[in-house]
Amino acid sequence: KAVVVNFGGQYAHLIARRVRELGVYAEVVAPEDAVEAAMREEVRAIILSGGPRSVYEEGAPDLPNDVLSLGKPILGICYGHQLIAKKMGGTVSRGEGEYGKTLVKVLVSDVLFEGWGGEEVTWMSHGDYVSEAPPGFTVLAVSERGYIAAMRRGNIYGVQFHPEVSHTAKGKVLLENFLRKVAGIRDVWRPEDQVERLVKEIRERATAGDVIIGVSGGVDSTVTAVLVYKAVGERAKAVFIDHGLFREGEPERVVELLKSIGLEVYYVDARERFLSKLEGVSDCEEKRRIVGETFAEVFTEALAKFPNAKYLAQGTLYPDVVESGAVKGADRIKSHHNVGGLPPWFKLELIEPLREFYKDEVRRLAKALGLPDEVVYRQPFPGPGLAVRIIGPFTREKLEVVRRASKIVEEELEKAGILRNVWQAFAVVGDDKWVGVKGDRRAVGYIVTVRVVESEDAMTADWAKIPHEVLERISSRITAEVPQVVMVTYAVTSKPPSTIEPC
Ligand code: XMP
Repeated sequence: KAVVVNFGGQYAHLIARRVRELGVYAEVVAPEDAVEAAMREEVRAIILSGGPRSVYEEGAPDLPNDVLSLGKPILGICYGHQLIAKKMGGTVSRGEGEYGKTLVKVLVSDVLFEGWGGEEVTWMSHGDYVSEAPPGFTVLAVSERGYIAAMRRGNIYGVQFHPEVSHTAKGKVLLENFLRKVAGIRDVWRPEDQVERLVKEIRERATAGDVIIGVSGGVDSTVTAVLVYKAVGERAKAVFIDHGLFREGEPERVVELLKSIGLEVYYVDARERFLSKLEGVSDCEEKRRIVGETFAEVFTEALAKFPNAKYLAQGTLYPDVVESGAVKGADRIKSHHNVGGLPPWFKLELIEPLREFYKDEVRRLAKALGLPDEVVYRQPFPGPGLAVRIIGPFTREKLEVVRRASKIVEEELEKAGILRNVWQAFAVVGDDKWVGVKGDRRAVGYIVTVRVVESEDAMTADWAKIPHEVLERISSRITAEVPQVVMVTYAVTSKPPSTIEPC
């Protein structure tokens, strides 16, 4: 397998995902853990990620020298490339910077660039650059500005551009060359081949007592539930807490689906409890706090129904595992992305079968487990549900408006074949009103904003350029079928500067 040394920002995860897409298992490690990780026998390739800092900055992350002398194949990317240069006797200087699409000219034919033409478009984002390669290094490629774009000594490579980014046209080819040809890795890793091992591991862990799974209908908790059920059968206990903030028909479908695979669901109708607490609350963080706290209360009460509970299975994913552990500097805009976390007083042992996977890999597991497309391709849905899609005071009327409007957005996008290709699609409502005519009467009604975004990891997102006809159908249906609404607008701002959810 490969290790990716994380120098900050989101680059390391993107690299690890690309490497895994190429069929090589990749793990993300902090620089201080790099030696230990890289020395492990099964590690055949080391990739040094990019990062937001300058190698000369005070406190900038460093790489232990030992990593460079292990003799294992190394590929430094951007910051990693500059770090190699600095540590091995080259020079890194402050330059004019190269940002965005940049042409790179290959000077020397090398196995790393097999499949590349003489010139290729790459994606760059750097201010510093390697002005002088370290002794013994060959410059393999240069950028438009004449900066060193790639260099090599033996099996140590550095590239200034980002091969992991899709804008680097032949980036994946380069990564594949590095993994398969330079590092000689033959094994093919696929998430769907891991199912049996995951089930076996759960079975070995959970030897006695019940395993509680909090399910929400999302792909992560559903896959977790199915894996646990396969491992321990009747001892798997799924708990579904209905906070009243789900999308139309969602709770019923979740319960039915799990039932159809043999898993009985303990359904808790806590709608009134959540909604009455939320009523009139305007502040977003306050809404989230209320949902989070109430969830913990209700979940604790539900647990009392399971005296034999010994384990709690959660669908924690790899990025959260990395971010909660050794890796510092993960940038978070909103603090609460894990509602439904376990209050520390629970004496249950945690089982997290998905802790080594990325979201797209969990979808592949879901497919391998035979789950319906509705689950496999289900969009991420925030823990506090529709509460974060209501701007201003929470009211039951606005909740009904977003719920009904969202359903129409999803239905029309599905019909147009767009829904599966976008990250999220939903409706939002606030307090602004628009004057309308319904029949021949003047009617004042809500403005509903439709938000559809494309994204790979929710850290950045583009607003989706969906066809006007589809928008038109969405608008006609919402104003016709949700009587309180007279105007539909479309959100055309990407993230950044906006976030995906309005609140
Ligand atoms: P933002 O709005 O921060 O959202 O751009 C990024 C992604 O996170 C989801 N999101 C949440 N998920 N609890 C969650 O479990 C939350 O409070 C929450 N807020 C946002 C959002 O749907 C998007 O996919």
